[in-house]
Amino acid sequence: LFAGQTDFLKGVVAMSGLPPADRTEVCFAGRSNVGKSTLINALTGRKGLARASNTPGRTQEINYFTLGDSHYLVDLPGYGYANAPLPIVEKWQKLLKSYLAGRQTLRRAFVLVDARHGIKPVDDEIMTLLDSAAVTFQCVLTKIDKVKSTQIDNVLDQVRSKLSPHPAAFPELILTSSEKGDGIATLRATIATLK
Ligand code: GTP
Ligand code: MG
Repeated sequence: LFAGQTDFLKGVVAMSGLPPADRTEVCFAGRSNVGKSTLINALTGRKGLARASNTPGRTQEINYFTLGDSHYLVDLPGYGYANAPLPIVEKWQKLLKSYLAGRQTLRRAFVLVDARHGIKPVDDEIMTLLDSAAVTFQCVLTKIDKVKSTQIDNVLDQVRSKLSPHPAAFPELILTSSEKGDGIATLRATIATLK
């Protein structure tokens, strides 16, 4: 699947702008700056495909990428703190929630969590929304290159205990580093199994 063509399709600012629901869709959600756009670049092997930056609030639209002719990869704006004016942030938070709860073809939401920080209350809120919408979500830990190997087990314990009350949580965690490449093949394989 990832050997095929990937392209940017469009940036969406309202539910009415979503492309036809005619493909298997997976999205990348998570707090601002967690590494969503960078992960899409690592998955597709195209560095500049999704715009990433060190400033939280970089992605401000729902960005659609085509993966082969069967899948969409969807890069979402972050939630939580963002370095952008409040009314704008509120607008995209609303859109984000409508999208997560209302997209028929959304097959799985990858909820990215910074491996240094674990699951925060805002993540929990999004996970509860996904439970209500019955959208299966899977937790992807990011930036594991920044965590000492001795601390990984603590993070995993925290994440597992926070996930356990969520009926829509897919139990398997994926540990990634977009920088070093860890977990990228696993995540590609996971996406390829979703039809
Ligand atoms: P928003 O669009 O603002 O919500 O952020 P985002 O989640 O898309 O984050 P983005 O991909 O823009 O990355 C934020 C910062 O984290 C950038 O400076 C990236 O280089 C850095 N980053 C992302 N992934 C990794 C990683 O695996 N390891 C390290 N060390 N840095 C990373
Ligand atoms: Mg982004």
